[in-house]
Amino acid sequence: MLRVAVIGTGYVGLTTAVCLASKGHHVTCVDIDKTKIAKIKSGEPMIHEEGLEPLLKRVLEESLLDATSNLEDALPKADISFICVGTPSLEDGSIDTSYIYSASKQIGSALVQRDGYHVVVVKSTVVPGTTDDIVVPNLRASGKKLGAEVGVCTNPEFLREGSSVQDFLNPANSGIVIGELDTRSGDLMVNLYRDFDAPILRTGIREAEMIKYARNAYLAKDISFANELANVCEVLELDYLRVKQGMELDSRIGKGRFLDAGLGYGGSCFKKDIRGLMSIASKYGIDMKLLRAVEEVNQGQPLRVIQLAKKFIGALQGKKISVLGLAFKPGTDDVRESRGIAVARAFLKEGSKVVGYDPLAMKNANLILDSIEYAKTIEAALEGSDLCVIATELEEFRNWELYDRIPIIDGRRVLPLDNIPKGVRLASIGFGKRPLPSSG
Ligand SMILES: NC(=O)c1ccc[n+]([C@@H]2O[C@H](COP(=O)([O-])OP(=O)(O)OC[C@H]3O[C@@H](n4cnc5c(N)ncnc54)[C@H](O)[C@@H]3O)[C@@H](O)[C@H]2O)c1
Repeated sequence: MLRVAVIGTGYVGLTTAVCLASKGHHVTCVDIDKTKIAKIKSGEPMIHEEGLEPLLKRVLEESLLDATSNLEDALPKADISFICVGTPSLEDGSIDTSYIYSASKQIGSALVQRDGYHVVVVKSTVVPGTTDDIVVPNLRASGKKLGAEVGVCTNPEFLREGSSVQDFLNPANSGIVIGELDTRSGDLMVNLYRDFDAPILRTGIREAEMIKYARNAYLAKDISFANELANVCEVLELDYLRVKQGMELDSRIGKGRFLDAGLGYGGSCFKKDIRGLMSIASKYGIDMKLLRAVEEVNQGQPLRVIQLAKKFIGALQGKKISVLGLAFKPGTDDVRESRGIAVARAFLKEGSKVVGYDPLAMKNANLILDSIEYAKTIEAALEGSDLCVIATELEEFRNWELYDRIPIIDGRRVLPLDNIPKGVRLASIGFGKRPLPSSG
């Protein structure tokens, strides 16, 4: 059993803390947000992730997890500290490292009180060089000898929101990457993950930092490729899903790629990480043209809905539009960079009246968009609508009966096309016959 401090208890930090505690390690959560700490202590996470709450309650009962807003309480007793604070985008696309700076500075001060070896691990997504340039100098300030008394690692996180607990506990498909300052630091991390069944890759610190960006940029590139192709299929009156099936027959492409077309990617990571990677590359004179295009295509996808809507129901001024799905994906309450919100904003700009629905994310959506109405049920959202847009792949949207005769734009291709009921009017991204001729 190792003693771990997790600094920053948002989506990544809390999942990391609870999952490591469930493997028998003793974990202390640290956050500057006192409300979060009080909630964690009472067993009620402030974020929604499947399985998180029962697991949190269990590890609290087993006294394997506690929480504090005072790092000095936690760090001197810990063998490992994880930095899991946010690294949002700045205006110019570079990452805001101020949270990394202050967390590592606090760790540096608290390390003075630590007797014995301690490894500081950066789990936040940071561009190559951040750990060396920002974290390491703050740790040196402790007066401890790096490599002897204090170790340093980077351990990028690959969990997906909506299935974060499952992903963390079962990393076989994503692997575990450990960037290490020295062998001893890396060995302790391997020991921490000894009960996880996954390949472990040990690299240098900067390589591990880069691996996270490389993976997210690669996946985002696939999504934008799919969307661009789907847009072409649409104007050529082809069904992109058929084309995708044909692509997947090629074993070099294969199934399970990020080739679904629709409203584009949302969430806190892809856009931020692409911008972060482009920004660090441009500092060294490299213009990442491909990634610039990836982002451009993605930004354009919600606007395609407006074009489709105009073809479908004419002028949008004063029309009532229901947007189903406001989180950036199903199974989460996270609305950062949500496509549903982008679509809602685009309709508001056209003078439409927008009603939104999401089973988990309406509270968070309301914090960033209070100029739309929120409906308690799908039925209430659809009542009297001139048009409905499906913005996430939620199972509950897959029911034809809900829509009655309301025209639908299926932004995620969730509705089955093989049994379209009579009278339905449907348009989908990547489906050429627009609107689909009503079968009634
Ligand atoms: N969200 C994801 O799906 C995901 C996946 C992989 C990697 N990441 C990366 O992980 C990092 C964290 O992301 P997140 O979504 O969990 O962020 P978040 O915004 O949900 O949480 C960050 C937390 O850090 C806390 N914090 C800030 N400064 C602090 C300090 N000095 N001491 C203690 N706590 C502090 C904040 O109060 C907040 O609770 C980011 O770099 C992100 O890119 C996120």
